[in-house]
Amino acid sequence: MRLQLQTWAEVERYLETASTVIMPIGSTEQHGPNGLIGTDAVTSEEIAHAVGARTNTMVAPTIAVGMAQHHMAFTGSMTLRPSTMISVIGDYVNSLAHHGFDRFYFINGHGGNSATIEAAFQEIYTAHTMSGSGAGAGASTSGGNAPSVRCRLRNWWTGSEMRPLIKQLFGDKDGMHATISEVSVTQYLFPDQIKDVAMGPPEAFTGRWTDAADYRAKFPDGRIASHPELATPEAGKQVFDIAVKQIAEEVTAFRDG
Ligand code: NI
Repeated sequence: MRLQLQTWAEVERYLETASTVIMPIGSTEQHGPNGLIGTDAVTSEEIAHAVGARTNTMVAPTIAVGMAQHHMAFTGSMTLRPSTMISVIGDYVNSLAHHGFDRFYFINGHGGNSATIEAAFQEIYTAHTMSGSGAGAGASTSGGNAPSVRCRLRNWWTGSEMRPLIKQLFGDKDGMHATISEVSVTQYLFPDQIKDVAMGPPEAFTGRWTDAADYRAKFPDGRIASHPELATPEAGKQVFDIAVKQIAEEVTAFRDG
């Protein structure tokens, strides 16, 4: 159930019996020799659409550009600065909260977003807790200090069933960036965009980078310790299906909890 494919009247009717919305969030950044630049955005978006369909939950427009400063030495990458991203997340949430949504379930496709998303949640909670109370800061309109909206962050590549599946499919070759699992999911979703690119062994992860130039110096083809040449659409379907199954269960619990 995609917000962008509803009429305003349909959204109004949805809100008569529901108040949860799924928020896909990703990144637009290089993903190694054969990975799509939109990997983190399109995977979270498609998983969100499938979870929304399975749970009858509204899905908001995707936040498709994230915190990718460290990928900016690779052509085509885009980034929001953290302060911008916090504002964007806040404006998305507050727009929908204005209409009556109060539970926001973020399906994230990019590990580099996590710290900024969590910071945005705290900004949202602070604003909702401290508003409407006149001169006295710290009190909500309900008299307590509980936030009036609830936000949850879920990285789609984690979970009790996902990690064993990835281990079973790819052993210790999945890697840290441009992973086999995420490239496989894009190959499943967009089979006409499978890139046939020769690549040697990846650079090992020997330490964290500082800025974008340092990242490229350490990892010249963009991968970190991954073997995306082993990606297949068949493996991608297995990863996608487990993500949707697990996250649908969690969205249901979040909605009803
Ligand atoms: Ni990624």
